[in-house]
Amino acid sequence: MYMNTALVDPDIAADLRLGHHLPLVKKTLQSLKVVEYLGPSAEESTFSSKNVRIEVYVYGLYGNARSLEEDRHFPQAELTPMPHIRFEGIWDELVFTDNIKEDLLWMMINILRFSLRSSDNSRGEVNPLILLHGPPGTGKTSLCQGLAQKIAIRLRSQYDHTTLVQINTATLLSKYYSESAKQVDEIFTKIACLCQEEPNTFTCVLIDEIESIASSREFSTTGDESHDSLRATNALLTGLDKTNHYPNVIFLCTTNMFTALDDAFLDRCGLKREVAIPSLPSQYQIIRKRLQKLIDRGVIQTDESLLSHEDARLCAELDSRNTPARLLAIAQLINSCPGMSGRSLTQLPERAVLQHLREDECDMDMALTFIERVLKLPQPKAQETESYVKVEQTEKKLSSIPDPQAEKHERKNDIQVEQHGTEIEIRGMKRTLRMLFEDDLDIEVLQRCIAEARKRPVQE
Ligand SMILES: Nc1ncnc2c1ncn2[C@@H]1O[C@H](COP(=O)(O)OP(=O)(O)OP(=O)(O)O)[C@@H](O)[C@H]1O
Ligand SMILES: [Mg+2]
Repeated sequence: MYMNTALVDPDIAADLRLGHHLPLVKKTLQSLKVVEYLGPSAEESTFSSKNVRIEVYVYGLYGNARSLEEDRHFPQAELTPMPHIRFEGIWDELVFTDNIKEDLLWMMINILRFSLRSSDNSRGEVNPLILLHGPPGTGKTSLCQGLAQKIAIRLRSQYDHTTLVQINTATLLSKYYSESAKQVDEIFTKIACLCQEEPNTFTCVLIDEIESIASSREFSTTGDESHDSLRATNALLTGLDKTNHYPNVIFLCTTNMFTALDDAFLDRCGLKREVAIPSLPSQYQIIRKRLQKLIDRGVIQTDESLLSHEDARLCAELDSRNTPARLLAIAQLINSCPGMSGRSLTQLPERAVLQHLREDECDMDMALTFIERVLKLPQPKAQETESYVKVEQTEKKLSSIPDPQAEKHERKNDIQVEQHGTEIEIRGMKRTLRMLFEDDLDIEVLQRCIAEARKRPVQE
């Protein structure tokens, strides 16, 4: 038997893999995927089953999430039986340049393997607590959800059920402000009960925005608010110590504010890993995957297959206006403006089409044009200086005594501005900013302008 992971017609590939078993498999299985190859890196995409050990996981997907509030009086969490349809494919969609996905998976597999092997069901020294930190929209929560799904599939032979308990700490604190510590303590007591009462259920606890309950106690010494968060942090630490010896629980935490976290909490993390803004090849791959999704959904009509980053680079050398070259140029443009998160990137192709499509159909050329249009900077470089001069003039006039002549001139300018595009004025504590957009206004462009403007010196 051969597994061919190259892009071929799925039916032909299935026939190649399964031969006469195919009709029966088609009746019973919804999909059959080769999801992972673990081993030394290999050039080829075809492997002989003589040289690899094949692990097959057969699973069904749950369809409904239920809140713990309904059956366990546990209002701060959402309980999801795993593997769940909501998280199917989430892992495969995430693209990172480093091997964060493999590292996380191996770490989890090893933690679970060794705790299952121990005769007294006890855990080792390393806490089953993983912390992912990094800028917003880089895929931290999705990684945790994807990991929980993977674990649920892998653990089916050891545990009857896997449950994902998602705790939203922000809601917890805003809802029960004065008694945060009590809430945290209660959550951990319930998790401990769950682990004890249901030894055949594996529990993945996902705590997003952990900084809300794990902020450094060093800086919170005065005031009621600080007291509240100090007690919440203490309750979290005690809660973790109370639960981490159970072999059937892991904690997955995320934060945007790594430096604000308490040292004692950081000490308890079995693995701390940064999730960074995607690099150029990842950015290319994310857009490519999202375009492919739009093709699969029939939003974009094309027979073209989208090339990998490496192949696109070769193709672009031959012709700078073909699809791979344009896609590459788009990724390069994004890469040259730092700060675009994975979240913005994943939304970019669909948003561009929704925003600009005026026809009944959309082909690849149109889709790329729309993306290029969305990404276009507000003005070409030469005009950019001019528009900032206008901003400065406006600021001066605002702080001086009104001059009717100048006002007239300013109004004249305003009229000119309006004729050209959209003018925006933003008033902050330190600066008042006026910006002129000659093209369609786009939130990312606006964000970039504000970031640029912040770097300019404050004017009196
Ligand atoms: N590297 C990536 N590859 C593919 N998709 C990504 C990537 N990073 C983010 N996304 C997508 O962006 C969206 C938001 O991701 P997610 O909520 O996991 O980010 P986050 O890091 O938890 O953000 P926040 O810090 O704001 O909570 C998801 O749809 C996710 O699939
Ligand atoms: Mg998140």
